[in-house]
Amino acid sequence: MVSIVKIKNFILSPLIKWVIKHPGIMGSKLFLKAMIIFPSKISKTYDERMVDGGQDLHKAMDQGLRRIFNKPQKIIDLCTGTGFASLEVAKVFPMSSIDAIDQITEMLDIARKKARKRGIQNIVFKVANAAKLNYKDNEFDLVVTSNAPIYLSEAVRVLRPGGLLLAVYSFGGEVFLRLNAEVDQYFNKNGIELLEIKRIGNGAYALGQKFKNQGGMDNANI
Ligand SMILES: C[S@@+](CC[C@H](N)C(=O)[O-])C[C@H]1O[C@@H](n2cnc3c(N)ncnc32)[C@H](O)[C@@H]1O
Repeated sequence: MVSIVKIKNFILSPLIKWVIKHPGIMGSKLFLKAMIIFPSKISKTYDERMVDGGQDLHKAMDQGLRRIFNKPQKIIDLCTGTGFASLEVAKVFPMSSIDAIDQITEMLDIARKKARKRGIQNIVFKVANAAKLNYKDNEFDLVVTSNAPIYLSEAVRVLRPGGLLLAVYSFGGEVFLRLNAEVDQYFNKNGIELLEIKRIGNGAYALGQKFKNQGGMDNANI
């Protein structure tokens, strides 16, 4: 019997490929509107719904964070939703200062409650649009994002040269591996060297490093 994962991958593969090949779509009004309407409808039940994808997301985040080698002090979590990535990052880098942004207030309210309950004080949750960030260039040592579109041009702009980008997914692991060359090309065009894509269960993580010089591929591999 064909598994749900195979069906999901069959549907996701062309979709992910399409977004990677036409990243401009992410700046379009229609895309941004869809990114508001859908998450705001599911915000209250989001954490319950995530139970299925949760295991692979946790594992992928855990393994991805072990690969962070630059001792980040300033970190931003793009599209934090109910705070999954920022809360995991805060455990691993308790001395860092973390900004976690999303455009849905209800999601951020849940994230704030979770942080308070866990006694985490180094995350500031803010309403913001990941496609148009209100931060200076080169502010952050690490950009993380999980289960969300990668708003790559803004992520790269706010990363300092040599800074790291970690994108983590609970789905599409097989798809991302198959699209390794396309992701590599997409990252490169935007000033990021792809260091690693790793499949974890049904999920995956991708780790990249912003070019240290404008010239390009000059980063030491891990
Ligand atoms: C599937 S949820 C993932 C949430 C969280 N990162 C996680 O792993 O559970 C996707 C999130 O991306 C946010 N998002 C999508 N586009 C965004 C944008 N342009 N600016 C800010 N947040 C955005 C949505 O509001 C939603 O909370």
